[in-house]
Amino acid sequence: MRNVILAGNWKMNETPAQARRLLEQLRESLPKTSHEVVIFPPYLVLEHAAKAGFVKVGAQNCHFEEKGAFTGELSLPMLREVGAACVLVGHSERRQYFAETDETVRKKIAAALAQDVTPFLCVGETLPQREAGGYLEFVTGQLEAALAGLDGEAVKRTVVAYEPVWAIGTGVTATAEQAQEVCAALRGWLADRYGKEVAQEVSILYGGSMNAKNAAELLKKPDIDGGLIGGASLKPEEFASIVKTANEVKGGAR
Ligand code: PGA
Repeated sequence: MRNVILAGNWKMNETPAQARRLLEQLRESLPKTSHEVVIFPPYLVLEHAAKAGFVKVGAQNCHFEEKGAFTGELSLPMLREVGAACVLVGHSERRQYFAETDETVRKKIAAALAQDVTPFLCVGETLPQREAGGYLEFVTGQLEAALAGLDGEAVKRTVVAYEPVWAIGTGVTATAEQAQEVCAALRGWLADRYGKEVAQEVSILYGGSMNAKNAAELLKKPDIDGGLIGGASLKPEEFASIVKTANEVKGGAR
């Protein structure tokens, strides 16, 4: 069966000294769990966080080429060597501010899988797209574009995060029903394309203003296998409390 995953996306927050402190606080706060806990810290502390050894660590971005003349970029072999087990791909902030396209997302997913780094593929609609209807087609279209050319075995090694753009960093969370509707549609699309067995293996997370207060309701939904958490992951007690909630709601305390 698929993993329950609680992932913290620190984004461009915390200097290295601050990030090391945050990590120590997290080490002290996190409850025991059999679920997967992942953090995506800034690159500069990635190696340090990976060596700390108590959470999985991922990169917030990557380049799809292994090496070359791409000033300022980092490749998957580089990231893997310093301990990145996962990588965020297609986050809406990268699509919006850094010209990430369906095509670069597709290349990054394929490159991550080839390097044995787990891609966390983010999809999600904007508010106008939601209001116009057709948002299910839009997000399944993002999924289709990102996974083009992969077989079911590769898809099984991918994590999907549904992150409605209108809920990210806004304090407006999707209701549990809204999030479940889209996560179920994503799983349904995966089942149609790759078969039920593959669809059941893929962890599908919700992200967008998830916090200690709304986590239980969201995590109770059958197609929501965890969270991709931004703001609340910078508060160790709150992030720990979300992990505790996952233990309660999904099982998993150790
Ligand atoms: P947020 O961010 O929890 O601060 O809304 C989520 C994300 O962008 O992954």
